[in-house]
Amino acid sequence: MRKLRKSDGSRFIAFAGSAKFKRGAVNTAILVVLSVILAVVVRFATLSDDNVADAVLRGEPFLQIVVLSLIIGVIMSTLIAYTYYVKRDADRSVTAKLVPVLAVAVFITFILALVFGATVSLYVSPLALCSLLVATLVDKRVGIVTNILLSQTFFLTYILVYGSEKAVESSAALVTSMVSSIFLIMFLDKAHNRIKFTVVGFIVGVCSAVIPMLINYLVDANDVSQILMSGLWSLVSIVLSVALFMIVLPLMEYLFRLNTPFRLAELCSLENPLLKRLAKEAPGTFNHSMVVGNLAELCADAIGENTQLAKVCAYYHDVGKTKNSQYFIENQKGYNPHDDVIPEVSVAMIISHVTEGYRMLKKERLPDEVADCAIQHHGTTPVNYFLYKAQNFTEENLDKKEFSYPGPKPRTKIAAIIMIADTVEAASRALSEKVNSPAAFRSLVHGMIKQKADLDQFTECPITYKDLDVIEDTLVQAIPSMYHARIQYNNNPKQDKNA
Ligand SMILES: [Fe+2]
Ligand SMILES: [Fe+2]
Repeated sequence: MRKLRKSDGSRFIAFAGSAKFKRGAVNTAILVVLSVILAVVVRFATLSDDNVADAVLRGEPFLQIVVLSLIIGVIMSTLIAYTYYVKRDADRSVTAKLVPVLAVAVFITFILALVFGATVSLYVSPLALCSLLVATLVDKRVGIVTNILLSQTFFLTYILVYGSEKAVESSAALVTSMVSSIFLIMFLDKAHNRIKFTVVGFIVGVCSAVIPMLINYLVDANDVSQILMSGLWSLVSIVLSVALFMIVLPLMEYLFRLNTPFRLAELCSLENPLLKRLAKEAPGTFNHSMVVGNLAELCADAIGENTQLAKVCAYYHDVGKTKNSQYFIENQKGYNPHDDVIPEVSVAMIISHVTEGYRMLKKERLPDEVADCAIQHHGTTPVNYFLYKAQNFTEENLDKKEFSYPGPKPRTKIAAIIMIADTVEAASRALSEKVNSPAAFRSLVHGMIKQKADLDQFTECPITYKDLDVIEDTLVQAIPSMYHARIQYNNNPKQDKNA
């Protein structure tokens, strides 16, 4: 066995105070509380009024709750472990929310399933709700596994409580729930529009209703009403799941600041108040953001990233420029306020747009990835124009850090794409006679990406050299029409002012 060293104690104290330890402790607490609450609800919901007092006196509920908590706890731990395995490469901001999101989705679904199962029919239990929420908010594979584990747990508790007379009904409902959930998750991508998805839900409901009808036919072919009712209730279960999904999803998106295809589609709408404000108060920045959005979408598609998320991140990356918009060259109409202030003030105005944008996006509860892109899109790069301008006023060497963005550097591939597309678009407005051929244009784009890499801006994100090559190719092919003839970039003061 390894001997304890003197430093182990202080290491443990440091670990106990770390964010990782605190997150682990919170997640464990959520897991324990969820397991106990579900166990209590299951146990007391299934005791009749007559025998509650007797059962409490005999101590039965307590022991049964402990056992049920253990069963639910083990199953939930398995689900959480699998989720972390699937999302092992995800950013910290994503993994930090996994357990709370799973806990809320499982809790809501389990309670609703219990209520509908006890009051109407087991077939009505809307278990597909949980798999839809998890598939949309976490991952499709996790959504399918969640449905399998949750359905098994739910129907197992039913059989444990009610005995074997519910075995056939539970098994039929279990198979129907699993099959319909898998189909619903598969169609999630095809139906981003909420109305389309409701229609898909109805079709899946009708198809999956056949399963319990066939099972009930095998049990008793003469019991026509039972056969028909099992099919009808199964259809109701899927329609109910989809309807509840439409209600619960926006609440969870807002609560956990998560991005989903539905939320991203809403954020792309130019009717969004923040975009409307950007268009009104900083029209030049608004146009720039739209072009960066198109470029980012193409680049994301080329390297297999989420195109919708890239577009939204680009649309909102400079939203902080609505404050002091006249300090950014794309919004100036002749008068340049930088002429009236010292370079230190100018650079503070320019740099503040990343922190201001981050603050605004957090306040409006946009998805965390979008806010993170706003603060990361300039990384820790210097604003050379004002650094050189300030240097002209003094003999001593100025600290480059004081003229640089505060960071952090891009932490995701999409944040890196926004940084590159932003730079290329800004350069496109600094036209000159120097770039007048496709080869010169390619060399220019290559130079811009290399410049960011040389400044170590991609050291904190998982982007590869291959990705950077693909992004370069995509930009060179996609935007020649924007570059009618010429661009000048290298340390051009105008370009830096555009940043
Ligand atoms: Fe910017
Ligand atoms: Fe920008």
